[in-house]
Amino acid sequence: MSIKTETTAGMARVEIARPEKKNAITVAMYQQLADAMKAASADNQVRAIVIHGQPDIFTAGNDLEDFMAQKSRDQGLDAPVFQFMRALSGCEKPVIAAVNGAAVGIGTTMLMHCDLVYCGDNAMFSMPFVSLGLCPEFASSLLVPLAAGYHRAAEKLLLSEPISAEEAVEMRIANRILPPGEVLPFAKRQATRFAQLPPGSVRQTKRLLRLGWKAAVEKTIVEESQSFGRLLGSAEANEAFTAFFERRKPDFTKFS
Ligand code: COA
Repeated sequence: MSIKTETTAGMARVEIARPEKKNAITVAMYQQLADAMKAASADNQVRAIVIHGQPDIFTAGNDLEDFMAQKSRDQGLDAPVFQFMRALSGCEKPVIAAVNGAAVGIGTTMLMHCDLVYCGDNAMFSMPFVSLGLCPEFASSLLVPLAAGYHRAAEKLLLSEPISAEEAVEMRIANRILPPGEVLPFAKRQATRFAQLPPGSVRQTKRLLRLGWKAAVEKTIVEESQSFGRLLGSAEANEAFTAFFERRKPDFTKFS
């Protein structure tokens, strides 16, 4: 299993564990992530959920071989990636992310749906959708400008610029930077604090904190997924994916 889960002391821990492929997430892993989120949500013993990767990698994002094989992403709301992201964005309990190393694509997108984000000084966030011939997904085109302001978001999303740990805090997409070895222990300590708090009040407060843009998030996810699905089968995306596996720079000069 490339997704490991454990429940202790009122906390569910969800670990992305495919280090040999930099924690790239396959369709099967999205299903395991979705199942883990649903199980944690349904378990009355669980007061908070911690998502993390390995000491040197959060995730390299969607598995690019899967993307190439899919050509157009199955946009059915039952697709594992949708199940996972809906379980995450709709989760009533606090979700805490502990990020070390790279958090690419959906690795950064998922953080926009977490409540607390702690990262190591080795963290590097990126949403390289444009450089992959794709577009933002799961409401990152709404939530990143909401957090960081339009122009900063445009710089990062239109130019596919990476985001350092310091910038992530400045852009308000991460709470705090810690030494890499302290990120997961700190996230776990924060999670156990929820075991001491009244769960009904925590749930209502989380709901209210997100209420202002909930409808817009849902609308944006649908809009983005239509564009994303079309772009996934495009010649531009194919050039980007092929270039990655051929370990060369993509050449987009022939496209108009
Ligand atoms: N999908 C599939 N395989 C991936 C992958 C991905 N997203 N990211 C990394 N891998 C694989 C590599 O192909 C390589 O496999 P190999 O050893 O069989 O050749 C292995 O993981 C190690 O990757 P490598 O690129 O050598 O590691 P690195 O430390 O030099 O770089 C990253 C790490 C994350 C910066 C780099 O792998 C990367 O940019 N990955 C692609 C990220 C991406 O575009 N994701 C999609 C976002 S929508």
